[in-house]
Amino acid sequence: MLQTEPATMKAVRFDHYGDIDVLQVVDVPIPDPAPGQVRLKVKAASINPGEASIRKGLLHTRFPASFPSGEGSDFAGVVIKVGADVTGFSSGDELIGFTNFRASHAEYVIAEAQNLIKKPLNVPWEVAGALPVAGSTAYAAVRAVSLKAGDTVVVSGAAGGVGSIAVQLAKRTGAEVIGIAGPSNHAWLNAHGVKPLAYGDDLSDRLRAVGVTAFIDTHGHGYVKLAIDLGIDPARTNTIIDFDAAKQYGTKAEGSQSAMNAAVLEELAQLLASGDLEIPIAATYPLAEVRSAFRQLEQGHTHGKIVLTD
Ligand SMILES: NC(=O)c1ccc[n+]([C@@H]2O[C@H](COP(=O)([O-])OP(=O)(O)OC[C@H]3O[C@@H](n4cnc5c(N)ncnc54)[C@H](OP(=O)(O)O)[C@@H]3O)[C@@H](O)[C@H]2O)c1
Repeated sequence: MLQTEPATMKAVRFDHYGDIDVLQVVDVPIPDPAPGQVRLKVKAASINPGEASIRKGLLHTRFPASFPSGEGSDFAGVVIKVGADVTGFSSGDELIGFTNFRASHAEYVIAEAQNLIKKPLNVPWEVAGALPVAGSTAYAAVRAVSLKAGDTVVVSGAAGGVGSIAVQLAKRTGAEVIGIAGPSNHAWLNAHGVKPLAYGDDLSDRLRAVGVTAFIDTHGHGYVKLAIDLGIDPARTNTIIDFDAAKQYGTKAEGSQSAMNAAVLEELAQLLASGDLEIPIAATYPLAEVRSAFRQLEQGHTHGKIVLTD
C-alpha cells in the first residue's frame, strides 16, 4: 500500500516571550521546500542556551522574535523531499545541517541545500544533531586566538556544549589547554589531555602562576576582564558571550556567525567520524518533552549537549 505523507507535524512554538512554560508542542502544516531547499525528517536537534535567551526576550534588540515563533537551528535528519534546483542530495540521504529560521525543534525541517552535509554513517544521530551551532562556535573561537605549539590557552566553561568541543580543537593545535570547569568535569577534561582548573575566588592567582598566552571565554561573567588583567593580548582573547566586555577591552568576539557553514561542518563531521572529536551527550529528550530539556539546560551545568530526538 502506498504511504501518504502527513499534512501536519508536531513543532515547538511560543506566542510570547517568557519562561519555559511558554513552550508548546503543537500541530502545524508541514512546509514544502522551495527551489534550493530540502525537507528532512528530524532525527535529532540539539538545544542551545541562546534559544532560551531569545525565548525570554533577552535578545529582543539583536534577534527579535515574531510570534508565533518556532525555535531551533541544529539538526540531523533524513531527506524526505528536495526542491527544484537541488543537486547532490536525494530522498533517504542522512544529513547534518542548520536552519536560520528557528525551525528545527520539530518533526520536519526545511533547510537551504547549501547548509547541509552528509552525516558520516558511524556518527550517532544525537551527536550529529548536536554539532552545528556548538561545533562552529568552538571552531570560530579557537581560530580567533591563533593557537600554536608553545601556547597555553585557557577555556572557561570548558566542559559545556561549546567548551567541550573548543578544548579538543585547541589541543589539536599543539597548545597546552587549561579548562575551567566544576569538579565533576575534571576527569573528562584530564582524559582529553586538558588540565582542569576549578572556578573560585583565587582563580586569578592560580592562572597568573601558569603563563597564559590566549583565552577563550564561553561563560561570560567577568572572564574577559580576567584575561585582560592577566596581561593576555586582546587579539588573542575571544568571548562568545560577553559582547560588552569585548567592546570595552577590544577583544575578539567570534562565534557561530563566522563559521557556521558546510565546509566547517564537513571538517568537524570528519573528526567525529575518525574518533578525533567527541561531543558528550548529557541527555536526550523526545520533542514532546522540550520543556524538560530546557529545564536541564538552564541549570547552567550541562556537560556537552542536550538533544531532542524523534
Ligand atoms: N556567539 C555564539 O555564536 C554562541 C554560540 C553558542 C553559544 N553561545 C553562548 O555561549 C555560552 C555557552 O554556551 P554552551 O552551549 O556551551 O552552554 P552550556 O552547554 O550550557 O555550558 C554551560 C557551562 O558553563 C559552565 N559554568 C557554569 N558556571 C561557571 C563558572 N562560574 N565559570 C566557568 N564555567 C562555568 C558549566 O560548567 P560546570 O558544569 O563545570 O560548572 C557548563 O559546562 C552561552 O551563553 C551561549 O548563549 C554563543
